[in-house]
Amino acid sequence: MNIKHTCLLLFILFLGHTTLQAQVKGIGNVNSVDVQGQQVNVVTDNAFAQITVYTPGVIRVRIDKKKLGDDFSYAIIATPQKTNTNITQNAQEVTILTDSLKAVIKKSPFSLSFYNKDGALISEDETGLTTSWVNESVTTYKKMQDGERFIGLGEKTGNLDRRGTGYTNWNTDAFGYSDTQDPIYSTIPFYIGIHHNINYGIFLDNTYQTDFNFGASNNRFSSFGARGGEMNYYFIYNKHIADIITAYTALTGRMKMPPLWSLGYQQNRYSYYPETEVFRIAQTLREKKIPADGITLDIHYMDKYKVFTWDKTRFPDPKAMTAKLKDMGFSLAVIVDPGVKVEPGYGVYDRGVKANIFAKYPDSTNYQGEVWPGWCNFPDFTNPKGRAWWGNEIKKYGDDGISGLWNDMNEIATWGQKMPDNIIFDYEGHKASHLQTRDVYAMQMARASYEGAKAAFGKRPFILTRAGYAGFQRYSAIWTGDNRAEDSHMLLGVRLLNSLGLSGVAFTGMDIGGFAGNGTPALFGRWMQIGAFNPYFRNHTAVNTKSAEPWTFGEEVLETSRNYVNLRYMLMPYLYSAFYQATQNGQPLMRSLAIDYTFDPNIYNTQFQTQYLFGSAFLVAPFDGTAGFGKVYFPQGKWYDMYTGEVQSGGQSKIIELSAHKLPVYVKESSIIPMQSLVQTTAQLPTDTLVVHIYNGAVNNQYVYYEDDGESFGYENGAYFKRAISYDAANRSITFGSVEGSFKSKFNTIKLVMHGFDGNASFKINNKAAAFNNDFVSYLTPVSKFDPQGNSHNVEGDRVKSAFVKNDNTQFSITY
Ligand code: NOJ
Repeated sequence: MNIKHTCLLLFILFLGHTTLQAQVKGIGNVNSVDVQGQQVNVVTDNAFAQITVYTPGVIRVRIDKKKLGDDFSYAIIATPQKTNTNITQNAQEVTILTDSLKAVIKKSPFSLSFYNKDGALISEDETGLTTSWVNESVTTYKKMQDGERFIGLGEKTGNLDRRGTGYTNWNTDAFGYSDTQDPIYSTIPFYIGIHHNINYGIFLDNTYQTDFNFGASNNRFSSFGARGGEMNYYFIYNKHIADIITAYTALTGRMKMPPLWSLGYQQNRYSYYPETEVFRIAQTLREKKIPADGITLDIHYMDKYKVFTWDKTRFPDPKAMTAKLKDMGFSLAVIVDPGVKVEPGYGVYDRGVKANIFAKYPDSTNYQGEVWPGWCNFPDFTNPKGRAWWGNEIKKYGDDGISGLWNDMNEIATWGQKMPDNIIFDYEGHKASHLQTRDVYAMQMARASYEGAKAAFGKRPFILTRAGYAGFQRYSAIWTGDNRAEDSHMLLGVRLLNSLGLSGVAFTGMDIGGFAGNGTPALFGRWMQIGAFNPYFRNHTAVNTKSAEPWTFGEEVLETSRNYVNLRYMLMPYLYSAFYQATQNGQPLMRSLAIDYTFDPNIYNTQFQTQYLFGSAFLVAPFDGTAGFGKVYFPQGKWYDMYTGEVQSGGQSKIIELSAHKLPVYVKESSIIPMQSLVQTTAQLPTDTLVVHIYNGAVNNQYVYYEDDGESFGYENGAYFKRAISYDAANRSITFGSVEGSFKSKFNTIKLVMHGFDGNASFKINNKAAAFNNDFVSYLTPVSKFDPQGNSHNVEGDRVKSAFVKNDNTQFSITY
């Protein structure tokens, strides 16, 4: 090689190096540190970082190549709390100490680690990689800890333990998605890491496309990053996962009390029309004695799919229709899609143009994408003016007597599925492109619907959304989109809902029966059983599939479905109290076993990973519709078979025989389960006896019973009936605390039903001997007439002791 060649080679290497340097950039060493109260501002070779204590267990980390900009978030509703914080530094590091955490910033290079009060390592940056950029993408790398597991991240397919996989958040219309497809509809960049009996949460608050790697194709790190914007994450530490969820929902908000009717059974298909068909469905539900509260109208109710219109041939008088449905005990929800047809003369479009609220190209022309009605403009829900305009359109639905809005296609879904990057949104005055806005668009649509409907309906609205971003739980419930009528999808759906629950979303559902394709009777029957133990219980199927109402799969499935819908309605006081918990501390109704049994490796076993607790009491074990046998894992403690009262001890798995008529459900020891008499709709009053089931146990239990009028906002001003019930195992006593709130309970009497207590147990109420009678509880009617042998079955049930007490506002105790 001559000198000319050597020079050329060196020049090429130099060029290569500088281009690489321009592309990949690490954060570098710390050059200066400025401590301001609970906050540390750091300047490094290549970036600016700000570390802020929010609470003793929550620390926020912001890092950017340029000076940190305006601090704005759609997700976060909390501000830093005044927290006992001690910040010190020496030449090597800065230490931030709170009452529950220690964060250490190493200076050369900048890297962060977190320890608990015992000095145990919770999480640390991968020191060689820390936080760095590849072009505009920013990523933080954390050292993979020995045996580390990862759970959460919202609506993500795959296993409960996400170790070994990577995920992307980019809201996507995912019709008939596969069991491993990613991304699908919604974005919640929040996960929980678990190792060495320690758990922590990380919420990456960035609305660009975000990417997570939990050891996918690498054995060195877990990482999270975004395709633009700041590194901006919240590190959350707490001993228990339940408290991490509470802390995460303190940051991003919690659901409001839902309207009671939305907890009832919802009948739906794509689509019920005309009006006579809607009444046929409503009437059949009543005739067949399937309790139900809601009917939902899909896109065929509209005039040529134009949002905020009615097809007047199919639905000549919506107001009269909703009034008649109301008399029958039904509330009506309708679908709304964001696309507004470009059609001068169509009032909604004209008003949108006039209000200038549609998303635009950089040259200020309105973006057009094609969807059901044809070419459409899309309201900019990230503009307060856009949300107000939408709210104004909702008014006529209020006049029509609509009770719920089902927000669909809001990823945004358009034909072709590839929205241009250069569409500009307001982003609350910050102006942002589609790249930064996409993942938050649906959340803002749900917000516009919630705010508009709250003003228009004069009562609690029910809002459902398909897509969302962290924090959407403040406005809306979510369902998991276009699933398939297959066993694997039913079980995937359970995992999706469990994961949403881990990620701060309590009000969740899936299309019961499956959206795409035609299910078998066995699948449908099983799915209805599971649906009864989902927070939102709606049956739905696609256009051109076979009818999929509970009576269309034969008498046997009808009976099974009825049994479980009945059970759900009898459980309404339990369900409503569980929703109240979600509003107070963000606890989901579907509790992945990872919440309460975090460090038990068996619960992550793929055989058991769909099992969950429904509320605090029920252990639900879902299986395929046709499985003959199944293996159930019983976590630590004592478990009662819900149907027979038979006791299983925890810490073991058991193979059980399955029946098409029965979903395996067990009750945790020391549980308290309030129930009511069977009603056909929540609009109907149950009898005035609240049946409180109490299961004998060796563990303590704190339960909160909650009731209010189920529809108004009166509860915000104290119009509720709330009572703490505590099970004190050591003192063998159950105490019903005195009542809080000004609401009068619907129940004058309480029937106490004692399960699993010794047959000779003598009970005292307020220290006086009390007479408890032998009694028998049966939750399901036997599906006996379908026994192929024609044998008549004995009713399956549990022998219990029961007594009646007055449901007044005073405290009382039961001892045994
Ligand atoms: C897509 C939704 O996911 C589905 O539930 C609905 O039926 C169709 N859009 C038609 O509106």
